[in-house]
Amino acid sequence: MKQNERVFSGVQPTGNLHLGNYLGAIKRFVALQEEHECLYCVVDLHAITVWQDPESLAHNIREVAAAFIASGIDPAKQIIFNQSQVSGHAELAWIFNCVARMGWLNRMTQFKEKAGKHKENASVGLFSYPNLMAADILLYRATHVPVGADQKQHLELARDIAQKFNNDFASSIEKCGHEEGFFPLPKPLIAGPATRVMSLRNGAEKMSKSAPSDMTRINLTDDRDLIAKKIKKAKTDPEPLPSEEAGLADRPEAANLVGIYAALAEMPVSDVLAQHGGAGFGAFKPELIELAVQKLSPISEEMQKLMGEAGEIDAILIDGANRAREIADPVMARVKEIVGFIGK
Ligand code: AMP
Ligand code: TRP
Repeated sequence: MKQNERVFSGVQPTGNLHLGNYLGAIKRFVALQEEHECLYCVVDLHAITVWQDPESLAHNIREVAAAFIASGIDPAKQIIFNQSQVSGHAELAWIFNCVARMGWLNRMTQFKEKAGKHKENASVGLFSYPNLMAADILLYRATHVPVGADQKQHLELARDIAQKFNNDFASSIEKCGHEEGFFPLPKPLIAGPATRVMSLRNGAEKMSKSAPSDMTRINLTDDRDLIAKKIKKAKTDPEPLPSEEAGLADRPEAANLVGIYAALAEMPVSDVLAQHGGAGFGAFKPELIELAVQKLSPISEEMQKLMGEAGEIDAILIDGANRAREIADPVMARVKEIVGFIGK
């Protein structure tokens, strides 16, 4: 691990964890833990930017934690915790509310998509959500953030906030004896064949937790039969698979299934096509089903087991929050000093 490198990422406990969350984020969290100090956060404060039933929220928080652990993140080595238990997230988010500009947030496409036609009725939290996300990362002065492609714009905003804070408070940072560039500019890690997994029923739409039809996504809790049924029914086109990547252009459904295969098999798309080029979907889908079941069922079985031991998950989250606070508290104390707040 390079000195001063730290990984942070978060997943919202909003139910229906799916293959996109796994391939775009959680699987990559697991890979990073070998060489980095990592914090993986169940972002419950983010979840309540849209209404969450309290009982389901508690269940969903445990389920994301269970997915992290079942996928292979080691809670003894890395920090797994839920956001609301470390007060620095909300405190730093407030300071960032005063650093970020309205114009910056007005450009956020995810807010526009989520608020839709009912902008006046969206919560204020949904609008300021990217400031909280910047606070999540910078509270730990994290340098690397593995996420799916949909979070790219939010990461750019986090960098802008870090930069503006560093500039606005440059003289105070110096006076307090802290290094120039107090906050690092966090790098997004968006890579691999599955940074944007698409709906199984529409290659133009992202696979999402909130799509009304369950057939659009493979949930991490789906069993073998459901996985098979959903892949069998996945939308495709009548052509066989091409042998080269260029042949996937303008074939979003085919590109999606090949990307999923590549990510699950941990091989480049070009190799998948070299092996399966010329095959029709009648032949390719059963292979994909086999691979998906082989990779996903151990995770869903382990998640189910862990969910039966809620006390153990809770203990892991409490321990994680204690360790997260040890990193966050001194950073928050320095931020308060830099801003000019007085206290102990
Ligand atoms: P969320 O469910 O919005 O909290 O997302 C958790 C993580 O999963 C983030 O890093 C997202 O970018 C990633 N993610 C969500 N949906 C997809 C998708 N369809 N394809 C790839 N990554 C995704
Ligand atoms: N906004 C992210 C999402 O919806 C979740 C998230 C919250 C996050 N805080 C974060 C991701 C910090 C990376 C780093 O997917």
